[in-house]
Amino acid sequence: MNKYFISANWKMNGSKEFTRTFFASMNEDIDEDVKIIICPADCYLNTVDAMAPKNVIRGAQNISFNTDGAYTGEVSASMLKDLNVEYVIIGHSERRDYHVETNEIIRKKFNTAVSANLKPILCVGESLDQRQKEETFNHIENQILSVINKEILSNHPFLIAYEPIWAIGTGETATPEIANEVHSFIHGTLDKIDSIQSKKIAIIYGGSVNSNNAYDLFKMSHINGALIGGSSLDANEFNKIYKIAKEINNE
Ligand code: 13P
Repeated sequence: MNKYFISANWKMNGSKEFTRTFFASMNEDIDEDVKIIICPADCYLNTVDAMAPKNVIRGAQNISFNTDGAYTGEVSASMLKDLNVEYVIIGHSERRDYHVETNEIIRKKFNTAVSANLKPILCVGESLDQRQKEETFNHIENQILSVINKEILSNHPFLIAYEPIWAIGTGETATPEIANEVHSFIHGTLDKIDSIQSKKIAIIYGGSVNSNNAYDLFKMSHINGALIGGSSLDANEFNKIYKIAKEINNE
């Protein structure tokens, strides 16, 4: 298993010019050991393909759970596959909150993605209210178990992103200890489904990751990289975070 995945979720940001400038300043050699996954808006997936250096992997931010047909405005898993996209973010909290995506919808999207051989990045995470009420572990277990089963764990590659909602875009990162505790809990939850297959699942952290906190997060035993929002819009920051993961990987 790769120890680190450094992923950018550009959300609804970017342009052709932004993409060109971003990759023009990507000065690190991208190797096979520490993967880079860039998730732009769908309309820029081909622009990223044209402008990114070799070994940059592309992901989408969402898919329809329908395979095809009269669903205006939706994008299917097979369309992304047609563009050679490898990953898709499923269940980001912004989709759960603003687009009312339930665990049931997320389960359907996840299954549609793996049926088309797309690799999902399944996002889970608790709100501040849930953390304060000590519901974090129950909530996350529920999010995982409503999607992942033994068949999926055995047959389909995917990533999990732990993104505490209170840390997204707030500048307030989970401490490495808090994040690692939840990552360890997630690994434990997967162990209960299949303790051998669970070893191959990487769990990345998302929520105000930047070049100042990346080192301490990536050093934690259960943290396999990051899903980065704000800091991924700054090529310099993103390069620095990638470099940190590479340095730790080479230690
Ligand atoms: P920020 O890095 O801006 O907190 O966003 C995290 C995120 O939502 C990545 O999917």
